[in-house]
Amino acid sequence: MKSKSADIYFFSGTGNTYLAAKKVSSVFEQNGITARLINIEKANPLEIDFTKTIGIAFPIACWNTYPFVRKFIKNLPQAFGTETFVFSTMGDSSLRAEASIGGILKDKGYSLIAAKGFRMPNNWILIQNEEKNKAKKEKAFKKITAFAQEIADGTAKPEKTNAFFKFCFAVSSFITGLWETAFSQKIIGLKTVKDKCAKCGLCVSVCPVKNISMKEYPAFDGNKCQLCLRCLSYCPKQALDSRVTREKRYKALNEEEMKNAFN
Ligand SMILES: Cc1cc2nc3c(=O)[nH]c(=O)nc-3n(C[C@H](O)[C@H](O)[C@H](O)COP(=O)(O)O)c2cc1C
Repeated sequence: MKSKSADIYFFSGTGNTYLAAKKVSSVFEQNGITARLINIEKANPLEIDFTKTIGIAFPIACWNTYPFVRKFIKNLPQAFGTETFVFSTMGDSSLRAEASIGGILKDKGYSLIAAKGFRMPNNWILIQNEEKNKAKKEKAFKKITAFAQEIADGTAKPEKTNAFFKFCFAVSSFITGLWETAFSQKIIGLKTVKDKCAKCGLCVSVCPVKNISMKEYPAFDGNKCQLCLRCLSYCPKQALDSRVTREKRYKALNEEEMKNAFN
């Protein structure tokens, strides 16, 4: 990596990607590279600093990533060879969405130096027990450390892609692109379980796309839900539910880490 400074833009619904981005930044710091973590929710793509290496990190959602993360990437300005790396966290398989997103950046003039996905605990439907999640995280952190070290050393290479993975990415872009419609939001079916809700407003404040407003109880009326699961996972009373989640919830962060990650 040519620059001694990196800005890592990340989005994380339930915390896995934040922990991965923090690991990358700590390896960079050990190598004398200044690293800044910037939350995509609060970032203006037009304000990126071309004098730095740019990192982009996101969770995998339906073999893709969330529509608003794709919008951020789409709105990044044209570059002229800025070194860029991309990484994702997933439960099991990304169908190399990182490489496809890396391809979008390449087309915009960014120089893609690394692209890779890492298996972390699944935060949706296939949630495993704590022991399995801990083992998965430890394995992932070792791989993420090696990934960051290779970037720092200048020996990293982006994972390969092919026509099959690109086709899958195009299909999943189309499908996830439909999420922000009234019909899809009806299928997602977010709701407040009123007799459990303490009206603390945490869900309102942590929603990355401001889809929740506090009426008598939290209301989901913006058609913007990305299904990142942050509100459901971090609700202290488990008072939020949806048609597409099971009872078991996953969260990677404690209260203190959560403040750093989502603010
Ligand atoms: C709506 C949704 C879709 C998901 N789709 C996939 C998927 O296609 N493949 C996969 O391996 N994991 C999938 N996952 C699991 C997450 O990618 C994984 O747990 C990730 O590490 C979560 O990161 P975060 O904690 O930063 O949000 C999905 C999770 C959600 C909520």
